[in-house]
Amino acid sequence: MSEKTRDREPAPDSRDLGPENLHRATIAYYNLRQVHGDMPHKIPRGPAPDLPAEQARMVRESQEAMRGRKVLEVASGTGSATREIAETAVFVTGVEIAPNMLRIAAENDNPPNVSYLAGDAFDLGSIAPDKRFDGGFAAGFLHTCPSSRYTEFLHGFHARLEKGAVVFMRSSRPTSPDAVSRLFMVEGRTDQFMTRQLSDGSEYIMVENDPTEEDLQRIFEPLTTNMDIHIGNYWWWIRYELP
Ligand SMILES: C[S@@+](CC[C@H](N)C(=O)[O-])C[C@H]1O[C@@H](n2cnc3c(N)ncnc32)[C@H](O)[C@@H]1O
Repeated sequence: MSEKTRDREPAPDSRDLGPENLHRATIAYYNLRQVHGDMPHKIPRGPAPDLPAEQARMVRESQEAMRGRKVLEVASGTGSATREIAETAVFVTGVEIAPNMLRIAAENDNPPNVSYLAGDAFDLGSIAPDKRFDGGFAAGFLHTCPSSRYTEFLHGFHARLEKGAVVFMRSSRPTSPDAVSRLFMVEGRTDQFMTRQLSDGSEYIMVENDPTEEDLQRIFEPLTTNMDIHIGNYWWWIRYELP
C-alpha cells in the first residue's frame, strides 16, 4: 500500500455537521493538505502592507508569553509556531493528531527542547503523564473548534497545566476575499463554516469561527485571570493566566 493510500481515510460526509464528523473532516483535511496542498485562492487578497508587522507582533507576544515556561502545545502541525516559541521556552511538547503533520514536524530542523506526540486536543489526559507544564499554547486550533466543544477542550487543556500557568492562543482570521467567499452559516447553528478544497479536488466542510473580542471574553473570562485580547486584521490572539 502506498504512503498516500495508507494515509487516506474514507472521505467525511460533507453534509453532516455534527461534532464527530467535523472532527473527522478537520483531521482528514489537515492530513491530506500536507500531501496535495490547498487549492490556489480564486480571489487574490491584494496588497496587505500591514500583514508582516502584525505577524511579527503576534510572534513576539507568543514568545514573551512562553518565556521560561514548560509548554504543552496543542495542534502543533508541522511545528512552525512550536519552533518560534521554543526560542524562549524551557521546552515545548507539541501534540498533533494528523500523521502527515507529525511526520513533517519530526523531519524539520527542531531544537533539542522540542518534542512532538500523537494525540487529540480533546483527549489530553494521558499525554506525557510524567511532564508538568506551566505554559499552554495553541496556534491555529480554536477557530476550527465547534463552539459546543469549547468547554470540553478548555477544561481538558487547563487540567494539564499548573496553577498560575500562562496560556497563549492565536488563530488566523478569514478576512481575505477568497476566505470570505467560502464562508457560510447554517440555520440553528452558532458556528460559522467554511468550504475547503485541496488540489486533488476533494472538498471538506469545517468550522471556521472568527470570534469577536466579546466572544473571547465570554469564552475565557469564567476560567481565567489577567486576560489580554488582540483582534488584528489577519489574526486574533489571547494571553491569559490560570487562577
Ligand atoms: C492551522 S493548522 C496549525 C498548525 C500549527 N499550530 C501552526 O501554527 O502552523 C491546525 C492543526 O491542528 C491540527 N488539529 C486539528 N484538530 C486537532 C485535534 N483535535 N487534536 C490535535 N490536533 C488537531 C491539525 O491537524 C493541524 O495540524
